[in-house]
Order: sequence, then C-alpha cells, then structure tokens
Amino acid sequence: MFTNSQLSKNQASNYDLLLENLKGYLDKDVPIISNLANMSAIIRYFFDDINWAGFYLAKDDHLLLGPFQGLPACTQIPMGKGVCGIAAKNQKPLIINDVADFPDHIVCDSNSRSEIVIPIIKNNTLFGVLDLDSPYLARFGETERLILEKAVALLVDIL
Ligand code: SME
Repeated sequence: MFTNSQLSKNQASNYDLLLENLKGYLDKDVPIISNLANMSAIIRYFFDDINWAGFYLAKDDHLLLGPFQGLPACTQIPMGKGVCGIAAKNQKPLIINDVADFPDHIVCDSNSRSEIVIPIIKNNTLFGVLDLDSPYLARFGETERLILEKAVALLVDIL
C-alpha cells in the first residue's frame, strides 16, 4: 500500500511509483472491473494536474463509460467520434494540447484543457481506451504517453 509520504514533487518519480503500485494491485484473479477501478484511482493519485482519468470500453461500434475518477462523464461515444473515439478507431494514442482547437472534442468537464487517450488492444482486438484530462494546456507529452503505454501494457497482460 502506498502512503502520502511516498509522494514526491518530482513527477518523474511519481510515474515510477505509479507503475510500481499498478504492478502490485493488478490481479488477474479478480474481475476486470475491479482492476480498472483500482487503475483509475492509482493514475489519479500519482498524476499531478489532471481532472479526469478513466476508461471507455469497446462494445460494437461504441465506447461505453467504464471505471473512472473525476466528474460524471458521457456514457457513450461512437467509434470515430471525440478524442476517445478517434484514438479507438485508429488504434493509436492521441494527445490534444488544446481541446478548444480540436473541433471533434466531446466536452465532459468544462475545466478540461488538454487530453491524452491510449488505446487498449489485446490480441489485435480493441478492448477500450484509457483517457486522461487536464485543466492545463499541453499537460501531456511524450513522457506521459510512454508511461501510460507502459501502464496499459501491464493491464493488457492480465486481460
Ligand atoms: N473528451 C472526450 C470525452 C470523454 S471525457 O473527456 C471524460 C472525447 O472527446 O472523446
């Protein structure tokens, strides 16, 4: 179990702690919904300057809201729509530095200014996406993409 004393002002070491904790909490013997709930909480805890972290899960031609931390969000996103739907359709990570400049962005929390979405793919099949929002412009870069891809790889291992 992590404690507040492990938190550092150094975001890089927070990212290491995030991955360490994730490895500790992910458990292939419990329902996936339990793992997604803990993973969203761990990301929310170790990531500075975000206002939403959670999952949308693929079902037919839509993404459906999964476990998350943050304000209530839209429950259905058509594949190919919004930042999440585009990342899901293309099966590629998507970073939006300023959501106001991205016409397809779907507003859930009006405080959100930037966003990153990482597709979750197991055996060439889209499982869903991991989505993080920040109230700051350009909060997410290559460092965040890499760390979140590592986090998603840990999740994919237990799917
Ligand atoms: N902004 C997302 C919708 C989900 S919320 O950010 C939680 C999008 O454009 O797909």
